[in-house]
Amino acid sequence: MDDTIGIEPSTDLGWERITLEHDDGPDLADAVSTGLGAASKTLPCHLFYDDEGSLIFEEICATPEYYPTRAERTILERDAEKLAEEFAGYEIVELGSGSAEKTELLLAAFCERGPTCYVPIDISSDALERSAARLTERFPNLSITTIEGEYEAALAASSARRSGPRLVLFLGSNIGNFGPTEAVKFLKRLRAHLVPGDALLVGVAARGDRERLEPAYNDAAGVTARFNKNILVRINRELGGTFDLDAFEHAAPYDEEAGRVAMYLVSQRAQTVRVEALKRSFTFAAGERIHTEDSYKYGPDELAQLAARGGFELVRVARDADELFALSLLRPGA
Ligand code: TRP
Repeated sequence: MDDTIGIEPSTDLGWERITLEHDDGPDLADAVSTGLGAASKTLPCHLFYDDEGSLIFEEICATPEYYPTRAERTILERDAEKLAEEFAGYEIVELGSGSAEKTELLLAAFCERGPTCYVPIDISSDALERSAARLTERFPNLSITTIEGEYEAALAASSARRSGPRLVLFLGSNIGNFGPTEAVKFLKRLRAHLVPGDALLVGVAARGDRERLEPAYNDAAGVTARFNKNILVRINRELGGTFDLDAFEHAAPYDEEAGRVAMYLVSQRAQTVRVEALKRSFTFAAGERIHTEDSYKYGPDELAQLAARGGFELVRVARDADELFALSLLRPGA
């Protein structure tokens, strides 16, 4: 693994830690230069999830408006036993594990049955550290290997070390951050890391009413706005940017036809922002937007279609009572 820059064994930490290179330093500069230099300004959404951003995201999950976390949790609570029975002995790999607070429900059921291996993948080292410390403490028979890195590099690193059949978790509607074409491409690449007998559990929020969806991405207390602006905070701190946070406003309109909430930062006036590390300035017209993220909603049928195009077969779908969220179990296709 060329890009492995550090492996620390379990003896020192209570778990094993693998650190891969990811979007800091030069890569961050490139992403900002390309994204803000484009005619239609955009910034890649994984920039949200630095250590601070990951903490703010946990706050979002606790807001009364952000229902997907709670809906997914009810499904996991209900189905944890069944999944643990079905996948006993599987290694559990999680893409974008974050706080792993919902995963803990599943891990409890697995560890109850016997020793379990868990490989959380995330780009926030703090989130990995906190969750691994908590889970190690709670489950003495859980072996953890954290991988700090972006999905695909980390998945490749985890594949090289696989010890048996794997259950890959892709929860939290993270797949919705890809549009349909990108989601299929991503699933194909993910498929390439799996073998027959492995499984993929994907959690995704369904399409819904604007009245429910828009507040979920624009809560009254302003946590989501703070999360979105954290990208600008990062640029200011890490690249010597001069973004005035009060001169941008968070917006999250739902496009019903596309089934997508799009996240923007809207310039409140004409302004020029300097980014010292790039030796560049960027001008914004009043009302001009930076597109920071999409959150597509996929109903179970849509997800099944994406999965089929991505090389997976749908085994079954579990939904919460209000049908706001679905947890789909997929197997790699032949
Ligand atoms: N995967 C989450 C989702 O699409 C990410 C998310 C939730 C998010 N709230 C957000 C991203 C607000 C940006 C802004 O639901």
